[in-house]
Order: sequence, then structure tokens, then C-alpha cells
Amino acid sequence: MSSLFDSVARKALFTLDPETAHGLSISALKSGMVPGCGAVRDPRLAVNVAGLAFPNPLGMAAGYDKNAEVPSQLARLGFGFVEVGTLTPKPQAGNPRPRIFRLVKDHAVINRLGFNNQGHAEAHARISGRRREGILGINIGANKDSSDRAGDYVAGISCFADVADYFTVNISSPNTPGLRNLQSRAALSDLLSRVLAERDAKARRIPVFLKIAPDLSEPDLDDIAAECLAQKLDGVIVSNTTLSRTGLSADPKTGEAGGLSGRPVFTRSTIVLAKMRQRIGADMPLIGAGGIDSAETAAEKMRAGADLVQLYTGFIYGGPLLPERILRGLALICDRETLARLSNLRDLKTSHYAAMAIPE
Ligand code: FNR
Repeated sequence: MSSLFDSVARKALFTLDPETAHGLSISALKSGMVPGCGAVRDPRLAVNVAGLAFPNPLGMAAGYDKNAEVPSQLARLGFGFVEVGTLTPKPQAGNPRPRIFRLVKDHAVINRLGFNNQGHAEAHARISGRRREGILGINIGANKDSSDRAGDYVAGISCFADVADYFTVNISSPNTPGLRNLQSRAALSDLLSRVLAERDAKARRIPVFLKIAPDLSEPDLDDIAAECLAQKLDGVIVSNTTLSRTGLSADPKTGEAGGLSGRPVFTRSTIVLAKMRQRIGADMPLIGAGGIDSAETAAEKMRAGADLVQLYTGFIYGGPLLPERILRGLALICDRETLARLSNLRDLKTSHYAAMAIPE
């Protein structure tokens, strides 16, 4: 299918409210209308991370498929792994609409969805009722009105342990008041010990990743890295959306409350990624997210310290053929730089990015 299809579909979708367009794109994937990827199965792109064999390092980030409706269809577009969620124990409606805003000039989005999702039971039934394709991550969170937020994460591990290839503990959404406080050392210590105790009680050892914000200070990063190492976590995802509005083109929508994603987040999240790599050492897997929309930006995250990468906003602007384009581009980078494996890029520019200040 040509990129003409992509641009026509994008124009049509962009005439709609972003959340309606998102719903339509999920329906299109469900219906089988969206073509699968001409398989890019290049062994140089394959990588083993946290005991899992990834066919390539490019994942769909959390938030696109909140209710686990289309993980297999996304895998067929070429993604090497798909993270569904964030899922909370009880269904919740999230914030009032409108709550997603496109900043088209900047290839960015602001969202304040607030963990709208159908809850654990419904998503679990959906996943277990289907044949599985690809690596499936389950991103878990806490209900807004929960009296024991850490308990909500433990419930997530318990509910999805039979279907998850890995878990992501998301404590970095800016749209659930107080959630990001779980990133403080004492709260994180309590949360991770409870979550990992639940994981360790299961027959299979399922990797657990932690997803952090890009709005952290250097001392915050020191604490998080120390805690992740102390608890022998399986990896860290850097990063979620930012509250910063630095560097955006003029547009009244930049004043909307919520988390900013897409191109303007690339540098910030890449600097935080590199700083985390320096603190956490060579062995802990890191997953880079924020502003990836091309093979070059994906490769740059790896140079800054990522083992795997994820995108979401790039998919809104680039369409369903984007994963295939990125994978082909990554194979070309292997040719150009005569890499036996793409993962040889890792850390080539970690010190470069880690030396930069985190923008305001
Ligand atoms: C997100 N993101 C997100 N992350 C998460 O852990 N749980 C979630 O439910 C959501 N929901 C969500 C909704 C929308 C509309 C967007 C745009 C993003 C964050 C996402 O997974 C990713 O970390 C950031 O968006 C940065 O990557 P991109 O979008 O710049 O590639």
C-alpha cells in the first residue's frame, strides 16, 4: 500500500476531533482494513532484552491501545512489541472531553486523558480469549480514587500474570493528580517492593519495567536509579509525556493542560535517558520513548543508551506504514555503518547527551 493511502487517510482523520480519529483508527485496525507490513525480518535488528527475544527494537508505546483491542494487528504493522494500557483495576472514564489536542506545526500532541480505560477484568478477558502474536507488555496504573495506589499496581500484576510478557509500572502520567509523587524515593521503594514481591510469587518470572517522567531533576534521577538497582528491577522506560511547553510554535492549544508528546519531547527525553544510563550502569535495560518518528530518531535513542525504543505520537502523524519505514531505515543504517547488529549503536553518544542540561 502506498504512502498516498497514508497521506489521504491522515488528511481525513485530521479533519476529525483527535479522540474520534483515534477510535476510527482502532476500528480500522480491528476490521483488517489496514494493510500489514511487508515483513522486515532483518536478523541485525533482533535483540534480547530482559530475557525476551525481540524481533526488532521498535515498540508501540502505551496509550494507543489502552484496552488491548488490537495488539496483534499492531504487531502485524511491524512493531517488535506492543505495550497496552495503562490499565487500572476498575474501569474509569477519565477527564471530560476534549482532552487530546494536536499541535500540527510541531508534530506534537497534548493529552489529559486521565487513564480512561475499561479496567483489568475486561482487558484480561479480551487478551486471554485471543491467539497471541508478538511480544505483549501490560502497562499498569492506579485508579484516580484509589485509597491504596500501590495496591492497584499489585492487583495489575496479579490479574495479568498469565498473559503478560512484561509489565510496565507507570508512575509518570501527569494526568492523575499526585501519581508522579510515587517517583519519590520512599514511595518508590514501597511500591517496587510490593510489586516485585507479587511478581516473585508467580511461577514464571515476568520482567517488570518502570516508566518515568522527563520532568525530573538530577537528584531525582539519582534516587530512582539507586532504587531500581537496589530492587533489581528489569528495566526503565524513559519517558512519558512532559509538562514543559518549551520550544513550541505559536498555537493557542499550547495553553491546554496535560502532557506534551511528539517531536518537541525528543531532546528532553533523550537527555534524561542518557543521564539515566550513566547512573544505572551498562546492564540494566533502558527503553527510550519521546519524539521518535524516523529511523534516525530511533537510532539516536539507542546511541543515547536505549536497548529498545517506543513511539506513539509519531504514529498519529506518520500513519500505519511508519513502523515498516523505520525498520527499513534501521536496516539501511546497519548497512551504512557496517553494523553486525543494530544494538552496537548503544551508548555511542551517551556522554554527549548526558552532559547536556535538562531543558526548562
Ligand atoms: C500517552 N502516553 C501514555 N503512557 C502511559 O504510560 N500510559 C498511558 O495511558 C498513556 N497514554 C497516552 C495517551 C496519549 C494520547 C499520548 C500521546 C501518550 C505516553 C506515551 O506512551 C509516550 O511515553 C509519550 O507520548 C512519548 O512518546 P511519543 O508519543 O513522543 O512517541
